[in-house]
Amino acid sequence: MLKIGLIGYGKAGQAVANVLQAEPDLELSWIARRTHQNAFDESGACSIPVIGLDQIDLANWLDKHPVDALVDFSGPEAVRQYGEELRRRRLMLVTAISAYSDADLAYIQSLGEDARVMSCPNITLGINFLILAARLLREIAPHADIAILEEHFRDKPEVSGTARKIAESLELDDANITSLRLGGIVGHHEVVFGFPYQTVRLSHDSIRREAFGTGAAFALRELAARTEPGYFSFEDLLMQRLRTQWLRA
Ligand SMILES: NC(=O)c1ccc[n+]([C@@H]2O[C@H](COP(=O)([O-])OP(=O)(O)OC[C@H]3O[C@@H](n4cnc5c(N)ncnc54)[C@H](OP(=O)(O)O)[C@@H]3O)[C@@H](O)[C@H]2O)c1
Repeated sequence: MLKIGLIGYGKAGQAVANVLQAEPDLELSWIARRTHQNAFDESGACSIPVIGLDQIDLANWLDKHPVDALVDFSGPEAVRQYGEELRRRRLMLVTAISAYSDADLAYIQSLGEDARVMSCPNITLGINFLILAARLLREIAPHADIAILEEHFRDKPEVSGTARKIAESLELDDANITSLRLGGIVGHHEVVFGFPYQTVRLSHDSIRREAFGTGAAFALRELAARTEPGYFSFEDLLMQRLRTQWLRA
């Protein structure tokens, strides 16, 4: 059983907590918000201890409430608060923060010298699989026309960061992205490969934020299966899993 401390209990963190609590091989031991006075979530929605990272002595807390891994869905500055304790205790880290600076990322990579660390700005299994599959198809069919379609709710102002990431991974520029803003669509991404006599469409639809938790659980299990420290992207873990699976087949 892997014991986990979850950092961040906002929109994403609450959905992630739901998933982690439902997994039989994972135990969500405690949750840290930025500030929190009580040891328990007063809303009653969660029976796990909730602490304020700004208000506790983390080393003392970890001595009394040890965990194997931290999962971070808070903000970019939190890693500076727990990083050295994580390093000292060689805890695993799955961080999903999308807005790290280059300096933050360099620091997180340095944590990978002592601990098993995964950092990824898009943590859903589906999108990461879509990117991998699209790269594979592009590799074997370099002359196909490729377009990226993204659809989101009416008020989303900017081009989807995920669509831009897909474009970057296929060495395309943003001009290959078509954006549609319609009603309440949560998030649809599609990569269309045009061949002379056939068309291939790879598509992904977001349904609920719980998908972030499924991705975090996948990353935790993949890190736990490794013995050496290291810094990984989600794609590294996915590739490793596929290699192991295919070699076994
Ligand atoms: N990689 C992905 O696919 C993915 C997907 C979704 C979200 N995210 C990332 O997850 C993060 C949270 O998103 P959200 O939509 O859930 O935001 P949110 O609703 O604003 O929630 C943020 C949560 O983090 C806590 N927090 C912020 N700074 C903290 C600190 N220094 N120490 C401890 N806790 C801290 C907040 O504490 P309080 O409750 O005390 O305010 C709050 O609980 C963002 O960075 C976002 O980029 C990534």
